[in-house]
Amino acid sequence: MSKLQIAVLFGGASSEHEVSRMSATTVLRAIDKSRYEVTPVGIKKDGSWWLYPGDIGLILDGRWESCPDNLPAFLVPDASVGGLLIRDSDHSDTVKKIDCVIPALHGKNGEDGTIQGLLQLAGIPFVGCDMTSSAACMDKVITNVMLEQAGIPQARFTWLYAYEFQSAPDEAVLKIEKDLGSYPVFVKPANAGSSVGVSKAENREELRAAIAKAAKEDGKILIEENIVGQEVECAVLGNEDDLLASTVGEIAPSNEFYDYEAKYLSGTSGLYIPAHLESGVIETIRSTAQKAYQVLGCSGLARVDFFVRNGSEVLLNELNTLPGFTSISMYPKLMEHEGLSNQELIHRLIQLAVKRMGKGADA
Ligand SMILES: Nc1ncnc2c1ncn2[C@@H]1O[C@H](COP(=O)(O)OP(=O)(O)O)[C@@H](O)[C@H]1O
Ligand SMILES: [Mg+2]
Repeated sequence: MSKLQIAVLFGGASSEHEVSRMSATTVLRAIDKSRYEVTPVGIKKDGSWWLYPGDIGLILDGRWESCPDNLPAFLVPDASVGGLLIRDSDHSDTVKKIDCVIPALHGKNGEDGTIQGLLQLAGIPFVGCDMTSSAACMDKVITNVMLEQAGIPQARFTWLYAYEFQSAPDEAVLKIEKDLGSYPVFVKPANAGSSVGVSKAENREELRAAIAKAAKEDGKILIEENIVGQEVECAVLGNEDDLLASTVGEIAPSNEFYDYEAKYLSGTSGLYIPAHLESGVIETIRSTAQKAYQVLGCSGLARVDFFVRNGSEVLLNELNTLPGFTSISMYPKLMEHEGLSNQELIHRLIQLAVKRMGKGADA
């Protein structure tokens, strides 16, 4: 049987471009080459797409961009094409059929439903949540509202559009104070990731500055009560009601909170599997993770992040539909704990993607 053709997308026009290069490197190294033929496609920060035939080792630091063999590659929405259009050096176009796409992308334009919508139009199976679920999990306000409706506990929250704050800042601040009751509060762009634009505000002045900072990332802003507690994460794999929820991992951020530096740069944040929690609490987290995954319509994979207050109160923080897949990332580590190597995990994710598109699980 011929090998399935897999395209791995990396980079992206996103504030998480660099993180994506790390995730893609892990995926490209781990994927089973005896089963799959892999085409890496790099997306530069300017949004241009390139077929990258070079060495995997040049992806991490961005040197892939200057490889002379890169060719423009286009993903077209036309479902009769079913693949990538590649522009050769003589300007002729050829179609490369693709059986499944792995979007090793994070944040805007990668995890937010945009690329998923394009892949749905193109009729190409892809790893991870569909367009609507990706968009709902990316937008922290939409996520919180859906979780609230489903009765899943979370931090107290309120939200506003940046233009509301800009036109009437005093009223906006008073409303936030009324909704949340006390400082400190956490201010986040509704659509961002990797802690970009997230800050803690101890008072009114800091709240204004935090809103202005978040507004640089997104026009919609979420403000939450500050949760003091443990930060824990659960990895979920599967479609519909056939789900594997991993044990729970705990993060001990090296900085005041789990900011971009603590996540990717300093490498000193602690990671404990399983989390320092009683087994009953771990079970509550696993079942809540599955419920939230289903409420948000997830498929393929998601990492569901929680806070635990006083060792027992479980509060859902967010769902990440394309969680980090670097060598130090929680999702692959949790799955490894469940007995799935990166190679096996990627194989399962491809099967889940193909199955969702109704083309047979064993294709
Ligand atoms: N309500 C909150 N209370 C306390 N800390 C928070 C709260 N919300 C976020 N944080 C801290 O900020 C980090 C980033 O926020 P998060 O909502 O996870 O956004 P991102 O999508 O950027 O990861 C969290 O990992 C946590 O350390
Ligand atoms: Mg987070």
